[in-house]
Amino acid sequence: MSNALKEYLVFSQNRVELALEARLPSDDLLPHKLHRAMRYSVLNGGKRMRPMLTYCTGMALGIAPEVLDGPACAVEFIHVYSLIHDDLPAMDDDDLRRGKATCHVAFDEATAILAGDALQALAFEVLAHDPTITAAAEARLRMINFLAKASGSQGMVGGQAIDLQSVGTKLNLPELENMHIHKTGALIRASVNMAALAKADLDIGLATKLDHYAKCIGLSFQVKDDILDEESDTATLGKTQGKDKDNDKPTYPALLGLSGAKQKAQELHEKALDSLSGFGKEADLLRDLSLYIIQRNH
Ligand code: IPE
Ligand code: IPE
Ligand code: MG
Ligand code: MG
Ligand code: MG
Repeated sequence: MSNALKEYLVFSQNRVELALEARLPSDDLLPHKLHRAMRYSVLNGGKRMRPMLTYCTGMALGIAPEVLDGPACAVEFIHVYSLIHDDLPAMDDDDLRRGKATCHVAFDEATAILAGDALQALAFEVLAHDPTITAAAEARLRMINFLAKASGSQGMVGGQAIDLQSVGTKLNLPELENMHIHKTGALIRASVNMAALAKADLDIGLATKLDHYAKCIGLSFQVKDDILDEESDTATLGKTQGKDKDNDKPTYPALLGLSGAKQKAQELHEKALDSLSGFGKEADLLRDLSLYIIQRNH
């Protein structure tokens, strides 16, 4: 990882940690158990890649991180809700997440379902209401619209539905790509596009380039997640290694082999870099982040 990215990652993680904490209901509030479950699942050392992408896109466009805390938190809240539900017995049935017991194991299934539901609602409350968002009302509405679409049946939830109905079947490459674009790519695209929407009068050409970049890294992120599930270990991942094989999930390594999957990730990284032509040094963190996504070890 480049030194610049390392530094910015620490800055961005610290920043979003405080911002998330400040926007989560205190566990003194009723219902205590629900609020404890929400805080437990959010404040537990996730990599915060989606908020990082929002801030780095802001950097590429000259937007200060102070006005991007709202979108950065909103996308992380949706992501955490998706992880809580992804781990439920009815879905991937995992008991380890971010190195700790999953929400339904630490609390109970009903609480985990509700914590996910409440985090989803909180994400939209933040976008609609957060006073740190200075974008015009119309831009704010567009952010809400983008995140809602990215989260729903034609975005992340749709991808999860395809994932579950594909267990034990063999998807071909376009089908697998379609599943990944939805289940993981959609929220990553939203992380980038919400920052772009915060920029008044952004040139349409630059907005399209950023969106193309986001699509490439959204897919490479899940390709790498599949690779890590196969070749990393539980302690490093903070989630149980080898679950995709156990659950008979269609993945890139299952279809292309490990070296084919790695080749695919590399190609997507190169396409992501191509998409940023037209940006100067101000987009270097986005370039570094694309490389980090395919080189990370967890
Ligand atoms: C894991 O996402 C689930 C996927 C969508 C691939 P991350 O790898 O970003 O998980 P955290 O947030 O760091 O725990
Ligand atoms: C999850 O994909 C995508 C989500 C929308 C949560 P995975 O099921 O591969 O994520 P992990 O490996 O459990 O984090
Ligand atoms: Mg899953
Ligand atoms: Mg899973
Ligand atoms: Mg996985």
